[in-house]
Amino acid sequence: MKTVLGFLVLLQATFSQGLQSMCNATQDAVCYGALGGPVHLQLIRDTTGHEIKLYSGADRIKSERVFTLKNSKTVFHLKTPSLRERWQFVPENGILIINPAESTDSGMYRVEIHDDSTGKSEGDHVIQLIIAGLACTRQVPCHVAVGQPVSRQLMVNAAGYELKLYNHTSRREGMFTFKNSKTVFHNEFNTPSFLQRWQFVPGNGTLIINPAESTDSGLYKVEIYEDSTGRLVGEQEAVLNIAAPVSDVDLSISCPITAERRVRCSSNGDSPQYSWSLDGRALSGADAHLSTDNQTVLLKGNVIGQLTCTVSNHISTTSITRVLFCPDILVISIIGLCGCLFLCVAVVTCYICRKKRNTHTLAETNEC
Ligand SMILES: *[C@@H]1O[C@H](CO)[C@@H](O)[C@H](O)[C@H]1NC(C)=O
Ligand SMILES: *[C@@H]1O[C@H](CO)[C@@H](O)[C@H](O)[C@H]1NC(C)=O
Ligand SMILES: *[C@@H]1O[C@H](CO)[C@@H](O)[C@H](O)[C@H]1NC(C)=O
Ligand SMILES: *[C@@H]1O[C@H](CO)[C@@H](O)[C@H](O)[C@H]1NC(C)=O
Repeated sequence: MKTVLGFLVLLQATFSQGLQSMCNATQDAVCYGALGGPVHLQLIRDTTGHEIKLYSGADRIKSERVFTLKNSKTVFHLKTPSLRERWQFVPENGILIINPAESTDSGMYRVEIHDDSTGKSEGDHVIQLIIAGLACTRQVPCHVAVGQPVSRQLMVNAAGYELKLYNHTSRREGMFTFKNSKTVFHNEFNTPSFLQRWQFVPGNGTLIINPAESTDSGLYKVEIYEDSTGRLVGEQEAVLNIAAPVSDVDLSISCPITAERRVRCSSNGDSPQYSWSLDGRALSGADAHLSTDNQTVLLKGNVIGQLTCTVSNHISTTSITRVLFCPDILVISIIGLCGCLFLCVAVVTCYICRKKRNTHTLAETNEC
């Protein structure tokens, strides 16, 4: 239960990340920012005595220098006018401010920190910046449980922008368009079942799907244009995966006398992954043999202890523990042997008793 709770908290943290405008980027970090909003990246706590270089791109060879901070002075190297107007580094607090953020700002950045006087390296980390936040990408899908709400802030405020959302896997016709303060759902998306669950809130640029259904899974694309210029300021593709959490986990143990004990773990839910442990440690080859789908284990010899099967998918994780109760073959044989011996002794004793009694009776009659 604790793990499940932990997972939910983690999921919630990821969901709300899109809305935080300050990102702790003092170490390797993934930072989200809403399109059109200010994004604040804390690159270093204290700039005193440091030279800071920010590169665009994680690749050392191909990366381009964005700016350098040296002797408390920031010099921008990139000549892109749109970037020069919107980016600012504040040496007093080590914060990089991007305002307003555009989706072209999305990407990998590398921060190099050197000692000002000696030139010695004091840090080198990578930041992934994601603007226009479906808070996931084509490569890193969003995973949401069936029946739960999906809420994604795509931009700070949609006023003055045109927004198009495409169901990318189907034809080029969009699902909906927001333009001139109106949201229009198109074709098969303009149906009650869809309109009851899907909503775009222009005031805070948020897309809400409530409740999410597994048919909502897919590849989506958002395009955002500036009304006044018609310029494409935001574009993002994201995979949304709506799946059922794992449930009804069950362990079945079969104990055939002649073969190895077989334990099978089963569950409901989408794409469950199984893993095992014995008394809290991972199950080793010495204890058991695992089936290729990891769902069944064949226990070796007289392995005993608490066997745990953990089932997880992208949505949830849960586990079940059982004490291995099957007596092994040796124990069964000993018990069987003891039983036999006891039976034999009993039969022999009985026989002797009877015989004794018979002789007595015979003697009595003879006497008579
Ligand atoms: C930022 O993250 C680092 C590493 O996780 C941590 O040590 C530091 O305290 C964080 N800073 C703030 C301001 O949260
Ligand atoms: C946006 O507004 C809607 C409707 O008022 C609200 O339900 C939602 O929580 C808001 N989202 C954010 C991210 O503020
Ligand atoms: C998007 O399109 C694909 C393929 O046409 C379809 O299977 C999927 O259900 C669509 N998604 C939605 C939310 O309608
Ligand atoms: C089975 O478990 C191993 C190790 O935990 C893992 O590497 C492998 O991907 C799993 N196989 C399946 C089919 O889940």
